[in-house]
Amino acid sequence: MARVLSGIQPTGDIHLGNYLGAVRGWVDDQHAQDAYFCVVDLHALTLPRDPAELRAKTLETTLLLVAAGLDPDVCTLFVQSHVHEHPELSWILESVASMGELRRMTQFKEKAKEGEESARVALFTYPVLQAADILLYDAEQVPVGEDQRQHLELCRDIALRFNHRYGETFVVPDAVLPKVGARIMDLQRPAAKMSKSADSPQGTVLVLDEPAVIERKFKRAVTDAGTDVTFDPVGQPGVANLLQILGAATGRQPAEVAVGYDQYGPLKADTAEAVIELLRPVRERYADLAADPEAVRSTLRQGAQKAEAIAAVTLARARAAIGLLSRS
Ligand code: TYM
Repeated sequence: MARVLSGIQPTGDIHLGNYLGAVRGWVDDQHAQDAYFCVVDLHALTLPRDPAELRAKTLETTLLLVAAGLDPDVCTLFVQSHVHEHPELSWILESVASMGELRRMTQFKEKAKEGEESARVALFTYPVLQAADILLYDAEQVPVGEDQRQHLELCRDIALRFNHRYGETFVVPDAVLPKVGARIMDLQRPAAKMSKSADSPQGTVLVLDEPAVIERKFKRAVTDAGTDVTFDPVGQPGVANLLQILGAATGRQPAEVAVGYDQYGPLKADTAEAVIELLRPVRERYADLAADPEAVRSTLRQGAQKAEAIAAVTLARARAAIGLLSRS
């Protein structure tokens, strides 16, 4: 069984992009693979957060992952900061990563909006912590959306360089992207990806949105000049995004989905309906789980124990390889 690991930040409400690009695939992976999923609260510290809100969102994100179908009896679900090996390995890996390769990360450039001078150091080193998340578990596969591809490349480079310098220590992982839905765009600004931090609430469909809200957001989705319904992400990004969403929600290719339409209205209505049906069970389960958040907290305690048992072994291996004296 291949080892799989992925993570999600507890920094906002989980949206349709997170769900189609990553979380839905994790639910399948947990049965076929030896799977680890973490709520990466340390990564959330890279931008300003209200402490109470961060704490609440960490629990809410976990509840939502369980509502989406992650079964803590089948996979290992944990909070990143509960396993101290993550920041510890990250420090070791920082000694292997270079300033130049981190500066090339497009997410850093996007998120350091006010310039490098005032950006948090943690925002800069963020992809190294992500590499630590992955390498600690000897993960072979990392199921993510398209926007994480560059971080995965960096993780591979760091692992290969470490192994080359200090001897075989880490498994070199592969990114695994869904065939359809790896990059869901904002419904109002189809040139930008749908995002948790978006200042575009009408363009972001949340997994917990009420059906009427989802319907409204799709009805108002920006489409393109012209009336043809063809899958052309460059020429018709708005329509292409709707086709991608409908394809991902119904298990078809976007170009195949386009064949049935010659107007935008019915495409929007059908996409809204497919998304509502896809998310309905998640929203319903979330309501039940939210009534007893303590139950999920106890699964997080178990998850952290299981994760730590593996992480500790890998960290010890990395410490020894790089020359840190053991305590015993
Ligand atoms: P995050 O929290 O931004 O997103 C979680 C997952 O959702 C995917 N995703 C999307 N997929 C398709 N379309 C979109 N518009 C869209 N927006 C987000 C992301 O690709 C991701 O798979 N750095 C990571 C979290 C992380 C991680 C890890 C991931 C930390 N450590 C280790 C994998 C392995 C992030 O910020 O994801």
